[in-house]
Amino acid sequence: MCGIIGAASSRSVGKILIKGLQLMEYRGYDSAGVVLNKDEEILRLRSLGKVSKLEEIMISEKPKAFSGIAHTRWATHGAPSEENAHPHGSHDDIYIVHNGIIENHEEIRCSLRNKGYEIASETDSELIAHLVHFYKKESQDTLQALMKATTELNGAYSIAVVCKEEKGKVYAARQKSPLLVGLGIEENFVASDPLAIVNITEKFHMLEDGDFAVITKEDVVIYDQEGIIVEREELKIDGAATATTKGEYKHFMEKEIYEQPDCIGNTINGRLGESDVLDNVFGLGSSNSFKDVKRVQFVACGTSLHAAKTARKWFEDICEIPCYIDFASEYRYRNPIVEDNTLFVTISQSGETADTLAALNYAKEEKYLGIVSICNVPTSTMARESDWKIFTNAGPEIGVASTKAFTTQLAALLILALSISKSQDKNQEKRKQAAQDLRETPALIREAFKLKDEINTITNNISSNDNALFLGRGMYFSIAQEGALKLKEISYIHAEAYPAGELKHGPLALVDETIPVVALAPEDSLVEKLLSNLEEVKARGGTLYVFGNAGSTIEIKKGKFINMPKCGDYNAPIVYTIPLQILAYEVACLRGTDLDQPRNLAKSVTVE
Ligand code: M6R
Repeated sequence: MCGIIGAASSRSVGKILIKGLQLMEYRGYDSAGVVLNKDEEILRLRSLGKVSKLEEIMISEKPKAFSGIAHTRWATHGAPSEENAHPHGSHDDIYIVHNGIIENHEEIRCSLRNKGYEIASETDSELIAHLVHFYKKESQDTLQALMKATTELNGAYSIAVVCKEEKGKVYAARQKSPLLVGLGIEENFVASDPLAIVNITEKFHMLEDGDFAVITKEDVVIYDQEGIIVEREELKIDGAATATTKGEYKHFMEKEIYEQPDCIGNTINGRLGESDVLDNVFGLGSSNSFKDVKRVQFVACGTSLHAAKTARKWFEDICEIPCYIDFASEYRYRNPIVEDNTLFVTISQSGETADTLAALNYAKEEKYLGIVSICNVPTSTMARESDWKIFTNAGPEIGVASTKAFTTQLAALLILALSISKSQDKNQEKRKQAAQDLRETPALIREAFKLKDEINTITNNISSNDNALFLGRGMYFSIAQEGALKLKEISYIHAEAYPAGELKHGPLALVDETIPVVALAPEDSLVEKLLSNLEEVKARGGTLYVFGNAGSTIEIKKGKFINMPKCGDYNAPIVYTIPLQILAYEVACLRGTDLDQPRNLAKSVTVE
């Protein structure tokens, strides 16, 4: 969601900025723009649609400039349009790009109008340019003006600024929205995402909330919110490890689906011993602290929330403790009652999701035993803000639809359940079984990949319908929810998941001869009940696509039974996710959607 890049260099920055935007395309956007601070003038180029369009315009202009800023916009305030695209300017002097939301934009707009400012776009972001311009008139100092301007902003922002007269300089500010500084040779950068510049440098400073930065080609100076110069830790981000090519695959999503055996291996490596989880895998002292955990509160969004819902049974079963689960966007608005010894757990691929971060910040003020994050991005805000953490080690996930993030989150959640159980000396046999199942997961996922041809025999029917129902029971209801989310977000088919027992309480009315009904029927204690629910679908002439195995076979007249590999109790939910990902991917391919960047969606949702 919105990508910012700024550069000050001894070489011309146009191509660097465009390449940076392209590397951030996966975050989701609808328009793009760039400002180049050329010797004689400021050149601003903006366009609706893909960065490649902006690139074409730029190539024709052949600009030479040694500093500039650029942006991909995901519309929040004002429709996607050239006028609303960033950078926004004030008096052809100050230009800014912004990621985040300014909540008090109406108030600022009124006050700026009263001061005689003309506002050209519908965005909240443009107001920042005018505020900086206004304060610069007072102090003649762009940094001071930016600092003053941000005191008026309520909400979240990462901002990069250039001033026409200050060639070779970029200013930046960060508050609750990701921004980092990249350190190059005779060049320095700011960016929302290390991926934007990881092909140029491996050295970064993460800015903290309230920080400001001034970059030139020779130097980077960081100030805290009091305006005092501060040192921020230098991080090394391995360029090779963050490589973002599709390789032999048509889409990033496809590549990410087929990477999962290795990713799960990376999640469990160094964390599981012979027959149990190792100590302190969530950080020093975590095993000791987990002795006191009496319940767990999960918050997350989207796919990450589905991971929590799936994992609940493990915590009840292996740790014998209750689990509460909330949408991150809802949690802090309901005055949650926090009982003693509750562990707060956030789950996030990006570690930058605004709702989850806000919930985490809220939780910090409550009497939780501690905060754990399960996250894929080690440099993320969430990882930094937590007491304990585990990285899922899935590698960069570029496809907007989460695949490997989900299955590695499940593996990490099982590791968390094992850690708490071990600290409390409970259910050793179950832990041993779970550890063994985890180890066998990569091989079982490879088995599940072999179902692709069979899955492709049902994709035509699913892709020609605009609706689909997904059914499961127990943990498999959450897996069904994840399957339905995958299908809807990349193929735009309306797909809903229900616990199979709920069917007769309403959704059965939707079942007719056309709607495809996808069901998950692993051999577990609920399978008999599930099979009875599926009879209800058959009796109404419904088309059933059932993923199950020997003990769950059901005679299907319309539809298909797809035989899954025989799984263990603890890895089956992970393995049953795979055919649903393949199904969604293949259906979206048939429908010809832009499935790595589906319409209206962003990879990293950095606004509330
Ligand atoms: O980065 P996060 O895991 O916090 O993201 C949360 C959701 O936005 C994300 O899982 C979203 O639902 C996925 N695109 C779904 O595939």
